[in-house]
Amino acid sequence: MIIEFAPLEGITGFVFRRAHVALFSGVSDYYLPFIATHATRTLKTKEREDASPANNAGLSAVPQLLSKNADDCLWYLDALRRMGYRRVNLNLGCPSPTVTAKGKGAAMLGDAEGLRRFLDGIFSKEPGIRISVKTRLGIEDPSEIFGLLSVYNRFPLDELIVHGRTLAEAYRGAGHPELLPEIFGQCKAPLCYNGNVFLPDDAERLRELCPGLERIMIGRGLIRNPALAREILGRMEASGKTTPAARGGYGRIPEGGGSPGRILEVPGGYGGIPEGGGSGRSREAGAASPALSAAELSGSCIISTSGSAASPALSAAELSRFLDAVYQGYRETLPGPVPVLGRMKELWYYTEDLFRTPEPGTSAFRALRGLKKARTFRDYETAKAAFFACPPEMEEGTPWKKNAALTGGWAKA
Ligand SMILES: Cc1cc2nc3c(=O)[nH]c(=O)nc-3n(C[C@H](O)[C@H](O)[C@H](O)COP(=O)(O)O)c2cc1C
Repeated sequence: MIIEFAPLEGITGFVFRRAHVALFSGVSDYYLPFIATHATRTLKTKEREDASPANNAGLSAVPQLLSKNADDCLWYLDALRRMGYRRVNLNLGCPSPTVTAKGKGAAMLGDAEGLRRFLDGIFSKEPGIRISVKTRLGIEDPSEIFGLLSVYNRFPLDELIVHGRTLAEAYRGAGHPELLPEIFGQCKAPLCYNGNVFLPDDAERLRELCPGLERIMIGRGLIRNPALAREILGRMEASGKTTPAARGGYGRIPEGGGSPGRILEVPGGYGGIPEGGGSGRSREAGAASPALSAAELSGSCIISTSGSAASPALSAAELSRFLDAVYQGYRETLPGPVPVLGRMKELWYYTEDLFRTPEPGTSAFRALRGLKKARTFRDYETAKAAFFACPPEMEEGTPWKKNAALTGGWAKA
């Protein structure tokens, strides 16, 4: 199985991606938060920085464009191609009212003929880059996806990522994974399913529902538990469900070289295309994964029990190290405590969900409150150290127990 990291604007920027690929295996591709195309045909400094090859060294990155204008889109595709990318994703799924009001993102799903013209305007110019699409099921009715598939099937998409909700559903409800087998049966492009995978069980259920499904894209589940991809692939490997195509896509890269069939990254290390192409590809996670020490793997505080010998569960020490790597990255790249702590609080909003809610009066309770209130780097570092000095137990089977909303975490509280 191929596991792709979903883009989350404001969270999965290059600092986060670099920290993740350095510490965790199992993710084949990291999708970049969207770049909106403009008639001005310029990349903003922040967008250029996020997509720059130097900032994505050692990971397979796929930039994403949000556009409704084929000619503008072609300019951006060419700019990304010249930066060295071989694959780009088109965002046809964003439900944000500020995006849909402009007729972009998921709003484009309401006009199948307009969508066909948009895609035709791109593909007919042979942009010299592989193009995938991230779509929702439709505007109101999930069965709209079948009409949309007849549009998508006309084009040589590199991949179709289906987020299993309509625009009207935004991020509410469990989505419609039950449609997956029929979508799979009708989709010509390699299909990837996205939505609500928080535990290895969720990924297994998708595979049971649709045994041919080889790709899933995960967002919040991987932010909540950064070892989730490793745990999913380990579980599948242990139960003999991993397809040969995915072998080599998890686990650490052996010292001194790759596994058999390993795909070498293109120069620059992003947008990795398998030599010889083809969709039955196996891809490695980032090459910059340092091995964890035995102490860290066994971890004084194991906080997840879903791992296996081949793919150990997340340890508190590992999680702490990851949070520190992200924090250091933000300190080096963002101006001052306000943006750094804002980003860290957003991340902790997801991380907190891994742990049992601490009892009032305990040190973990006070530490979490300190993290939420932190105004200075010192506040943050003190509270973070106190939390990991004695973290609460995890409640593995109940993801998202405390946080009903998808976003709007601590930073926005
Ligand atoms: C804060 C936030 C930002 C997001 N930004 C993007 C984005 O830039 N591009 C995109 O295609 N999807 C974006 N998404 C949607 C996610 O990629 C993903 O489809 C969604 O979270 C559902 O998957 P999950 O259940 O695995 O989290 C965003 C979602 C959230 C919550």
